Amino acid sequence: MSPELPASALYSHPSLARLWKKVHLACSPFILRPTVRQLYSQPAPLLRSHLKTQPYHVVALGCAEGHKESLLLRKLPPPSHLTTADTSLAMATIAARKLPAKRKSAKKLDLTSPSSLSRVLQSHSNLPPPTRLLTLFGVLPNLDPLPLLSQLAKSLHPCDLLLFSTNLAPGENPRAGAVRILPQYENPPTRRWLEAAARRYRPRLPQGQLVFQINSDPRQTSLARIEARWISSRSTKIIFSSRRPTAPQVEAWLRSCKLLRLGRWIEPRGEEGLWLVRSHPSLGRDPKPRKG
Ligand SMILES: C[S@@+](CC[C@H](N)C(=O)[O-])C[C@H]1O[C@@H](n2cnc3c(N)ncnc32)[C@H](O)[C@@H]1O
Repeated sequence: MSPELPASALYSHPSLARLWKKVHLACSPFILRPTVRQLYSQPAPLLRSHLKTQPYHVVALGCAEGHKESLLLRKLPPPSHLTTADTSLAMATIAARKLPAKRKSAKKLDLTSPSSLSRVLQSHSNLPPPTRLLTLFGVLPNLDPLPLLSQLAKSLHPCDLLLFSTNLAPGENPRAGAVRILPQYENPPTRRWLEAAARRYRPRLPQGQLVFQINSDPRQTSLARIEARWISSRSTKIIFSSRRPTAPQVEAWLRSCKLLRLGRWIEPRGEEGLWLVRSHPSLGRDPKPRKG
């Protein structure tokens, strides 16, 4: 039995997406703290200066119902084309309905599959080639960050922009920072959501209980992960994990993926940050030419 549930298994069934939405409304700092919401409109002035070659396209990756994108797009000229993409097509469809754009489409996406990502990004390839603004909000904590950022870096054309957010471990020590924000996860609505995901898992998990812990990421041991593990007398399965890098760890990911930072915004408590990046011009990426 693989020790970890894929993150998509927590959202792709409509009943789980509904439970996650309850968690989001009850516990998310984005809902509870105005300073976190403000973060999502702060990149707008810098983006406007980069997007002067209008029209531009927006591809909202892992967007759920698009609340964060909505705060950002409110401050930008409407894109000529918008694609919303998520493992939950139901949520991506709601986001597409809500967000402003002249033309829109919603797609099912698996961010862990390069071919799925490339299909979503290629849906733009027969349109005239203006700048694409890719957004990736709240997703990096749930997925292995380096393969995802490096796949995105390979997919970026020279004029494309990537704006991503990540949850951070506040302070300098990743583990101590993760301890401070553990109550955002260890609470009844989150437990209900994750226990429902454990019940849906096949083959069925043995009788056990959900235990929240802070562990090191197995692929980057200096990185703290908040985990919810289903522990039984026979086995342990990781149901959920949220990586909590420090800002310097995010910067190191960018260097290793050859992404150039254009801007960075961090909310006052240091628990969430946004990075605007593009492919590194001097590192000679050779993106595939677009069709059409
Ligand atoms: C924590 S939620 C964040 C949602 C929203 N972007 C926000 O910040 O409020 C993670 C999102 O990633 C999506 N997701 C998880 N795994 C995914 C995958 N493998 N491919 C695409 N989307 C995925 C989920 O459906 C969910 O919408």
